[in-house]
Amino acid sequence: MRENIEDLQNKYPWLKVTNSLEEYVEPNYYNKILKDYIFDGKSDINIFEDFLKKINLDKGINALNALELGCGTGRATKVFVNSVKAVNFTLDLVDLSSRMLDFSKKEFKDYENIKFFESDSMNFLEKMIETYDIIFSLWSFSHSVHQNLIKKGLYDGKKYVQEVISKMIKENMRANSKFFLIHFDSMSDEQRILMKQGRKVFSIYNDLDKQSPSKLIIDEVLNKLNDDGTIKLKANHFVGEAITYSSLNEALEVFLNFHMESYFNKTPELQTVIQELSDYFKNFTGEDGKIRIKPGCFTYEVEKI
Ligand SMILES: C[S@@+](CC[C@H](N)C(=O)[O-])C[C@H]1O[C@@H](n2cnc3c(N)ncnc32)[C@H](O)[C@@H]1O
Repeated sequence: MRENIEDLQNKYPWLKVTNSLEEYVEPNYYNKILKDYIFDGKSDINIFEDFLKKINLDKGINALNALELGCGTGRATKVFVNSVKAVNFTLDLVDLSSRMLDFSKKEFKDYENIKFFESDSMNFLEKMIETYDIIFSLWSFSHSVHQNLIKKGLYDGKKYVQEVISKMIKENMRANSKFFLIHFDSMSDEQRILMKQGRKVFSIYNDLDKQSPSKLIIDEVLNKLNDDGTIKLKANHFVGEAITYSSLNEALEVFLNFHMESYFNKTPELQTVIQELSDYFKNFTGEDGKIRIKPGCFTYEVEKI
């Protein structure tokens, strides 16, 4: 039976939520809807915390200069700030969404050494002249990479992104500077179905048998820089603990409003998207009616030589 958007909104009231690409998900809703991501017994945030513990952040009397790309509501920012309590530091926070930045401005209002930049990450990196001791980005870098590929086309976009990453490492990091990245795994149980939906509108997601274009492009440029001795690269793949959704309704809300940023909520494809997701979730539904789906991620630890 064909259902129109109004019928579907009556069934799933949360479909009324809509955002623009620039505004991403509303910050309080983001914090509410975000599930715990656990890899090898540690949350994504703990993994970042462990990385910070492992590297020496103390620069003596010199300020440690840090940059976070796609800070969102400041989950990783908090960990960073707490890890460098005893250290003199500056931190630049970048996000494309003005409401995410407003949220973070309130969170970190007591820090005069934190600055905020409303920008696409690649555009910011392209123009930046600072040198940073640490640059980090959790679950965000790929957004900027994919948006630039969509805007510029696969060929020019790839060239642009790789030049920007190369420039960031060669010109904006000094010897010993670190770059830490958490990147989504598009072939995980969680993301596979999302790439299939993305493909309906963006041709860059055409090949579902390969990792996302963002991951492939980042891998290529970082491996090259590793091979020519510019950086030392350590990459890890994690398959996470299954995330539990108490009902089909909850799983649909998280996938449509969080993962797909409500992109399809007002489009003619909505009913098909809901149907495909519901069919896919059947593979992961237990006898208790709960849906359990495993996420995945890649971590990248880069050290400039
Ligand atoms: C999944 S959230 C991750 C936020 C945060 N790092 C965390 O781990 O909770 C993605 C973030 O990337 C931001 N974003 C989306 N596109 C972006 C772009 N082109 N440049 C910079 N930030 C972007 C969104 O506004 C959002 O805050």
